[in-house]
Amino acid sequence: MQHLPDSVDATQDLLSQGRYVADRSLATVLFLSLRLGRPLFLEGEAGTGKTEIAKVLAETLNRDLVRLQCYEGLDVASAVYEWNYARQMVEIRLSEAVGDRDREQLASDIFAEPFLIERPILKALRPHPYTAGPPVLLIDELDRTDEPFEAFLLEVLSDYQVTIPELGTIKAPEPPIVIITSNRTREIHDALKRRCYYHWVAYPSAARELEILNVKAPTAAPELSRQVVGFVQKLRQMDLFKLPGVAETIDWADALTQLDRAVLSQEAVDDTLGVLLKYQDDIAKIEGSEARRILDEVKREMAEAAATSDS
Ligand SMILES: Nc1ncnc2c1ncn2[C@@H]1O[C@H](COP(=O)(O)OP(=O)(O)O)[C@@H](O)[C@H]1O
Ligand SMILES: [Mg+2]
Repeated sequence: MQHLPDSVDATQDLLSQGRYVADRSLATVLFLSLRLGRPLFLEGEAGTGKTEIAKVLAETLNRDLVRLQCYEGLDVASAVYEWNYARQMVEIRLSEAVGDRDREQLASDIFAEPFLIERPILKALRPHPYTAGPPVLLIDELDRTDEPFEAFLLEVLSDYQVTIPELGTIKAPEPPIVIITSNRTREIHDALKRRCYYHWVAYPSAARELEILNVKAPTAAPELSRQVVGFVQKLRQMDLFKLPGVAETIDWADALTQLDRAVLSQEAVDDTLGVLLKYQDDIAKIEGSEARRILDEVKREMAEAAATSDS
């Protein structure tokens, strides 16, 4: 059985067991949220490793991962529970044919457990007997939902219970570990944030991004990985419509390795830009001479760094 980590160091170790490279501030806020049982609210650009944290936690703590992917118009029927109308209809027909029950009996029979469809939130609140403890509830991309759903969620996160009129109140025997993510396409309401601990997941530093590549794209040549990181870090300082995330850095290193590249060249960059940038305007801006300029700068800085470390 895997216990919750008992220190910030242990939390960092746990994440690295799951091949997640976390800086100290993330490990600290995660440790506190596990320790004190508070939801963790992770905000940041797309592809910075927010969703992955929940996956890694579930895996390393031996918990079920219950994922609620948010979208516009998400409602209780998709998030919490729904009655299985088709099955209820069949039951009604059968009962009519046999004539074995009166109306009241039938009504209470079909609004019972076997006719209930569990959706993620209900699932996360019910016992999970085959794991080391309650599940990890990942509420992913909350910024895509609307305010009424947020208000509902606030209620759930205050007492970890939901009420189903026909069945009664279902309360979690032990609260789940809750991770909420947002890509910040809109602000999440203060009331909800106040229930949580907050962490901004920033783009990693060059050193940390290189560590991530070593773990997630281990077959890439070391020189290539350093150049890829250098290049991506430069792109993130530019005025682009959509900056590449860590996911794109990993994909790019993998793609170049597939093409048997051990170092970057302008030609290699031009041929593979679509792995890194997903908007034609951004690609047009970088392709060709700009790619060459960035690459020259990266190479020069790497040479300078090597020279200072030699002397
Ligand atoms: N710190 C990190 N350590 C290891 N892998 C990471 C890290 N950050 C991002 N990744 C990888 O980048 C990819 C995108 O991460 P994801 O969690 O989906 O991003 P987000 O949810 O923030 O959009 C995943 O494949 C993940 O493994
Ligand atoms: Mg995500």
